[in-house]
Amino acid sequence: FQKRGIVCHVLVLVLCLSAAEDFDWTKNNHGSFYYGTFPAGFSWGAGSSAYQTEGAWDKDGKGLSIWDVFSHKKGKIQQNETGDSSCEGYYKVKDDVSLMKELKLNHYRFSISWPRLIPTGIKSDHINEKGIQYYDELIDHLLENKITPIVTLYHWDLPQVLQEKYGGWQNISMVNYFNDYANLCFEKFGNRVKYWITFNNPWSVAVEGYETGEHAPGLKMRGTGAYRAAHHIIKAHAKVWHTYDTQWRAKQKGLVGISLSGDWGEPVDISNQKDIEAAERYVQFYLGWFATPIFHGDYPQVMKDFIGRKSVQQGLGTSRLPTFSPQEKSYIKGTCDFLGIGHFTTRYITQKNYPSGRSSSSYFTDRDLAELVDPRWPDPGSEWLYSVPWGFRRLLNFVKTQYGNPMIYVTENGVSEKMLCTELCDDWRIQYYKDYINEMLKAIKDGVNVKGYTAWSLLDKFEWDEGFSERFGLYYVDFRNKNKPRYPKASVQFYKRIVSSNGFPNQREVENWRRKAVETCSSSNQLLAAARRKSKEHAEMPKVWPVHDEV
Ligand SMILES: *[C@@H]1O[C@H](CO)[C@@H](O)[C@H](O)[C@H]1NC(C)=O
Ligand SMILES: *[C@@H]1O[C@H](CO)[C@@H](O)[C@H](O)[C@H]1NC(C)=O
Repeated sequence: FQKRGIVCHVLVLVLCLSAAEDFDWTKNNHGSFYYGTFPAGFSWGAGSSAYQTEGAWDKDGKGLSIWDVFSHKKGKIQQNETGDSSCEGYYKVKDDVSLMKELKLNHYRFSISWPRLIPTGIKSDHINEKGIQYYDELIDHLLENKITPIVTLYHWDLPQVLQEKYGGWQNISMVNYFNDYANLCFEKFGNRVKYWITFNNPWSVAVEGYETGEHAPGLKMRGTGAYRAAHHIIKAHAKVWHTYDTQWRAKQKGLVGISLSGDWGEPVDISNQKDIEAAERYVQFYLGWFATPIFHGDYPQVMKDFIGRKSVQQGLGTSRLPTFSPQEKSYIKGTCDFLGIGHFTTRYITQKNYPSGRSSSSYFTDRDLAELVDPRWPDPGSEWLYSVPWGFRRLLNFVKTQYGNPMIYVTENGVSEKMLCTELCDDWRIQYYKDYINEMLKAIKDGVNVKGYTAWSLLDKFEWDEGFSERFGLYYVDFRNKNKPRYPKASVQFYKRIVSSNGFPNQREVENWRRKAVETCSSSNQLLAAARRKSKEHAEMPKVWPVHDEV
């Protein structure tokens, strides 16, 4: 008995030790609102991406991207909209930087359009000087206004030539083309840009681009396309990190990271081991798919197990999930100076078995789970975007425990509003930011190393397959007016207060911000309505003009 007692003690000790390092799925304390401030030097920002905001799709020597081609095909985008002109951000650098100044932002996150710099995607073909000039001007103007640029190299707009000639991310040759492009960016902009993000949300590139086909290039290679695209993207990321590390870091002293998106997955029943395992699979197949190779050198074990087993059952000789060689594993491991996190929403997860017939193979059925939502969760905007603030804290704590507490920049977080809504008094967005930012503050109190936050997004913009039907902006953009004027929503006033107070000083003040923000927006609403009436009058003018012209 004595001996057994010791064994038990040792066991308990081992369990305690491993529990200290593992994420605790069984404890989810929501707690109340936490009043307090962020660590000194915390960086506040807002974000955008090239295809969603720049417009000027065929101007000044820019090449075509897969999104230019995809959005011009009928039936791919809501209302058959395109990003041809979008916010005309290409022509509005000064205007938009002044909006950032109004918000008192510390940083601005934007992306470089690869085909704007290199029209065919292949550096040795041709470099477009006008494209370089545009980003030079944007970066210089940000720095003159003391706003730090955080630059994404790939926010989904692959040069079309690379898709047509090589099959895009299905082809390993993308690794070298992307590396050449990244190297050009370091050479031209790296003296001023110190925060680089290789890829934005590669999950979406892989799954929506090559599995479901909802995004460009619109391919439906179910069960294989996403895994192969992701494999090449991870290698491309690692190569670019090494290029920076060996050729530029000593001179430029910047950081290179990646921006991963992940919804949180919470077990439906936290006392049910099967649900816990299913929830963990959900997160591993989402964030872990990319983060685990980058931090630990290989795919999550659970992905290797599930996809491998199903591939065998389908009579395939090898797993549909590609493998890394030992050399590749050590080359990829540790290629992240900071981790960008994009996060919007949460799902409840439960175990669900899918039969593994060959025809039914897909990323989604490989996971053996079902996603659920709580009908009480607020759902103010996009169909998929339920507001579940506590999921954000859970995700951030998961990242801390799984990847050795890396330096984190939140690169995307925000909420949209429903179709054709012209309401500038976006009280629900104020609520979303208030609660999500508060959960991030709690995560920092938990010891998560978050250094900055990026509200998504600065402006309303082209929302991919949703066209202009969903608006994420702090600023409203009147897309029907060809000048694309911007109007502040109430959330501008509220976010500005959080930024200037570096957090939430006390209840009375925060309630006050909110009341004031909602009060001021009604005058913005009137301005917008007046401008609308005026532009309607103008819209009738062209019918008259040709007659005068002929005279
Ligand atoms: C978009 O294009 C498709 C195919 O030509 C057409 O059927 C559909 O009506 C268009 N939608 C709109 C809103 O124009
Ligand atoms: C990749 O591109 C090469 C040309 O560089 C081509 O020969 C090959 O078939 C492509 N592979 C795939 C999978 O498309």
